[in-house]
Amino acid sequence: MSSYVIEGGRRLLGECEVQGAKNSALPILAATLLCDGKCSVHNCPDILDVGATCDILRHLGCTAERNGHTVSVDSQGASGFEIPEPLMREMRSSVIFLGAILARNGRVRLSTPGGCEIGLRPIDLHLDAMKKMGAKISEEYGHIECSAHDGLHGTNITLSFPSVGATENIMIAGSTAKGITTVVNAAREPEISDLADFLNCCGARISGAGQGTLTIEGVKKLSGCEHTVIPDRIAAATYMAAAAATGGHVRIDNIIPAHLGPVIDLFEEAGCRITTDCKSVTVAAPKLLGSVKMIRTMPYPGFPTDIHSPIAAMLTKAKGTSVIIETIFENRFKYTGELVRFGAKLRVDGRMAVIEGVPVLHGARVITPDLRGGAALMIAGLAAEGETVITDIKHIERGYESPEKTISGLSGLMRRIDNDGSE
Ligand code: EPZ
Repeated sequence: MSSYVIEGGRRLLGECEVQGAKNSALPILAATLLCDGKCSVHNCPDILDVGATCDILRHLGCTAERNGHTVSVDSQGASGFEIPEPLMREMRSSVIFLGAILARNGRVRLSTPGGCEIGLRPIDLHLDAMKKMGAKISEEYGHIECSAHDGLHGTNITLSFPSVGATENIMIAGSTAKGITTVVNAAREPEISDLADFLNCCGARISGAGQGTLTIEGVKKLSGCEHTVIPDRIAAATYMAAAAATGGHVRIDNIIPAHLGPVIDLFEEAGCRITTDCKSVTVAAPKLLGSVKMIRTMPYPGFPTDIHSPIAAMLTKAKGTSVIIETIFENRFKYTGELVRFGAKLRVDGRMAVIEGVPVLHGARVITPDLRGGAALMIAGLAAEGETVITDIKHIERGYESPEKTISGLSGLMRRIDNDGSE
């Protein structure tokens, strides 16, 4: 089991470039299955979840080759319609293949993703939408079979919750459905707009992405295309929090500041000076951060749930008490039990965490609970005095590309140790 070893207490200084967005690359790669021709997807991060997505594409009969940050997919001859349970369990977000497989093959068989570290992850909104588009669905003991032998048809869908994944499945399935599909209360995340841009580049007719109401006019078929994935706003905010937690001064390049609206406000409330230009964000942090009175996670354009744990870690050394309310996932506070090992003072009550700032954190041996919880442990280790060892880092490597290289490039001391002790 690999680990990160961090020597904390050093200010992060300099500049870094942020990776392509994991939560954009995954649905776009899934959508390539529906394209009749080759797709080249650029700026794909080199992370485990992209690897798992390519494994699923190959399992379905596609070729999927990575060359640097470009993944090339050719779905010609892909006739697979089943995602085996081990692959579903490896990556819960593989449910994003549902719409593409159903639209391409008229049938799909997968297992329910199953609960994960942060919650139950139900897919009822996905299945209800596919049903409304003409699919017949049978569910038994966690196995799901969908069929639409006469193809899918357009319909009007109102989502009870602006689910990112359900919105993405509807966009993909609706692209080649017969007729027009409208989605009210659609998710508005930047990754939704990026997927719409990719699909439209392949010949789809999607309008309203990012505005909450989507219209998808079905076309006969999609061609292949070239597309560059947007920057990862969650990774960018993670490194901003690392800079702030160490009293550092860091410029993060290749980011779209408009994607970080509520996040930038929070860093300024905590006493950081934030400057932006069209492609970068610079964080100049004070020696001692101020607390933040209340953070409530919301669907975009609200404060992103994926950034709550890195921010919590940053606030463990702030002056005063901060409160975080997590409204999206029911089990996203597991990391707090590990933060306490650094000497942090947090209390969790249901969906609320109360963080009382302490003057010093001490390095600790900790275990990664999940992807973004692992990011919180990295930040606490950087802010703590002494050595921190983080184990079970495959969770972190699912979503962050070589964080040890990024941190080392900012004068931090962080290295990756393989289970045999080699670096
Ligand atoms: C996407 O997950 C992201 N993952 C998540 O990022 C992110 O936290 C989430 O959107 C919210 O922004 C990817 O894009 C791969 P949802 P998704 O459907 O699509 C409930 C990370 O760390 N719900 O918007 O699964 C669900 O239980 C990951 O990068 C239903 O009830 O999120 C949750 O409470 C974590 N029924 C809420 O909606 C459904 O059918 C948000 O889920 C679907 C969802």
